[in-house]
Amino acid sequence: MALRTIRIQGDPVLTKKCREITEITPKIRELAEDMLDTSYEANGVRLAGPQGGVLKRIVVIDIPDEKNNLLVLVNPYIKSHTEELAEFEEGCLSLKGLYEKVSRPDGVTVCAQDLDGKPFEIEATGLLAVCLQHELDHLDGTVFIDHLSRLKKDRAKTKLRKLRKNDKQA
Ligand code: NI
Repeated sequence: MALRTIRIQGDPVLTKKCREITEITPKIRELAEDMLDTSYEANGVRLAGPQGGVLKRIVVIDIPDEKNNLLVLVNPYIKSHTEELAEFEEGCLSLKGLYEKVSRPDGVTVCAQDLDGKPFEIEATGLLAVCLQHELDHLDGTVFIDHLSRLKKDRAKTKLRKLRKNDKQA
């Protein structure tokens, strides 16, 4: 087991577009395992490549619902989404301590490959739909506060700076 350092807001790696994974090598499998271990260790349930410092299109999610438990998504993309929006309070291991309400499509259909390179599709609503969209955003250099209005985003950034300052003092 190898833990990776979770990149935090301000790290340029979080603003870059990730590359497609062209071949699922043992190294990619190892990366997926590391990402899961890192996510569990941080009491998170999800992580995207750039958060582990790797600019590759891979996401791990562990949110139990009726159909899916542990999800490893290689080269995921949103095939379709509902017109209806839903608002959820989101947080992120890269913006630790910050929680903001974000509005996103209520349901999504996501296509991806598994660790054997086999394509699969997930239809999700609710929390899983939020997580999928949040994590897929990371692959294109977007974090959840990027969805907020300018004013709210500025406020969120100020909050984050205060949180970090307190962390350092603690
Ligand atoms: Ni995140």
